[in-house]
Amino acid sequence: MTIGSPDTLAVELVDVDKAFYGVKANDRVNFQLARGEIHALLGENGAGKSTLCSILAGLYRPDAGEMFLEGRAVTFKSPKDALAAGIGMVYQHFRLVPNLTVAENFALGYPDVGFRLEEKELYRAAEELGERYGLPVDPSARIWQLSVGEQQRVEILKLLYRNAKVLILDEPTAVLTPQESTALFATMRQMAAEGRSVIFVSHKLHEVKEVSDQVTVLRDGKVVAGVATKDAEPADLARMMVGRDLVLPTRDPQTEFGPIMLSVDGLRVQDDRGLEAVSGVSFDVRAGEIVGVAGVSGNGQRELAYGLFGLRALTSGTVTIDGVDITEASVLEHIESGFAYIPQARLEMGLAPGMTTEDNLALKAFWHAPYSKGRRLVASAFRDEGTRQIEQYDIRGVRPGLPIRLLSGGNLQKALVAREVELKSKILIARSPTRGLDVGATEVVRNLILAERSRGIGVLLISEDLDELLALSDRILVLYEGEVVGEMPCEEATAERLGLLMAGQREIVSP
Ligand SMILES: Nc1ncnc2c1ncn2[C@@H]1O[C@H](COP(=O)(O)OP(=O)(O)OP(=O)(O)O)[C@@H](O)[C@H]1O
Ligand SMILES: [Mg+2]
Repeated sequence: MTIGSPDTLAVELVDVDKAFYGVKANDRVNFQLARGEIHALLGENGAGKSTLCSILAGLYRPDAGEMFLEGRAVTFKSPKDALAAGIGMVYQHFRLVPNLTVAENFALGYPDVGFRLEEKELYRAAEELGERYGLPVDPSARIWQLSVGEQQRVEILKLLYRNAKVLILDEPTAVLTPQESTALFATMRQMAAEGRSVIFVSHKLHEVKEVSDQVTVLRDGKVVAGVATKDAEPADLARMMVGRDLVLPTRDPQTEFGPIMLSVDGLRVQDDRGLEAVSGVSFDVRAGEIVGVAGVSGNGQRELAYGLFGLRALTSGTVTIDGVDITEASVLEHIESGFAYIPQARLEMGLAPGMTTEDNLALKAFWHAPYSKGRRLVASAFRDEGTRQIEQYDIRGVRPGLPIRLLSGGNLQKALVAREVELKSKILIARSPTRGLDVGATEVVRNLILAERSRGIGVLLISEDLDELLALSDRILVLYEGEVVGEMPCEEATAERLGLLMAGQREIVSP
């Protein structure tokens, strides 16, 4: 192996190890990143991708092995060190300061100058870089006011402002709409054309195929394959990751449904700022039916889910579940009436990050048997049920006594879905349930949702992933600016037709 030939190689890792609590997250990893290259990192959930990225970005220090930057051996004590050397990372979970403006976030961590940087200069830089790289942001906006896609642009601009030569993007498209992803790919190509190198983590194989030059595949912390992207088809990549052939499950066509399980009539819900976000939505979901809700993020999906689950008071409208009016019910009453809910934000809303996996699995049922007897909790039930579910749902990386937040993203999601499916509910609301999941885990979660449908419950699938909606839904509604602007059985839906409705073009329906 040639170590760090400085004219073409940007970064090289040689025999890098990193273990957490005795489990090897990176195991003798060798990795080479060329200058001007877009390099995809692939692997199942928990394979060690984020760990590898975090080592490159100075967040973790390797237990063993060496790292070279443009041919010179380097060790980083912190992300600050790495950035000063030219390596920056956009994390899977962002690290912006919500109360500062875009421009102020630019100044953070800047050596020596700090907040004394001229505000005008920061505004100008943010605007100029945004324009140059196709990443428009308003420099005076505060972070909390921005959409996730905009926050990500700020993260990337921050790195460009610091003139990073290596940009590491850990699952950037998991939080983006298809349109935003396409725009990001253009930015990535531009950065590569300037001689910067980009590491791109994604579970979406067609994206990897579309944007990357080179692919490295990790399995159980080890590098198991490295190929030029042009030499591999998505199916080959899936096989390298999982070690077997995979075909993602789809629903079997069915036209007979049971009684109405969820009925929504004239629903109006406001957003955080008190503006109307859901404007008179009505629909039914029948037993054994999956109703998909398509839409570009921010068109009322969040408020629809909150309103249905009792997390937000309705301005008007009614919701009934299996014939019982639950319009005014609390969240607890929703759970007791048979509502299961897979939220978008797993760590913020779905799970208690500091609690163990076993406790999280019991979180919505601990006041019932087997977890409780009378007023007492039964410790052995938490343990036994936890063990069973961790095994049954293939939740990997769990270590006794440690908080769930240490699990990889995909395993967090499996735990969340497991808990909701275990509720044996009448209605399941699932928001982007396979976002961030590897193909194997996507298969698991899709099968769980299809099994819920076969069990005869009603499923409302709110997603921005059109492939997923088309594969699972019996019927699809399109949400645009808080209204249902289209509805069709799956057989009549195509990505193009949905895309147009999602962009706000109404269809002319001939009678
Ligand atoms: N800070 C940490 N403490 C303890 N264990 C960790 C930590 N970070 C990662 N791990 C463990 O190391 C392994 C690799 O995790 P990593 O986050 O690198 O996976 P990943 O490939 O990024 O997965 P995903 O696709 O789900 O994001 C997992 O078993 C994970 O639970
Ligand atoms: Mg990760």
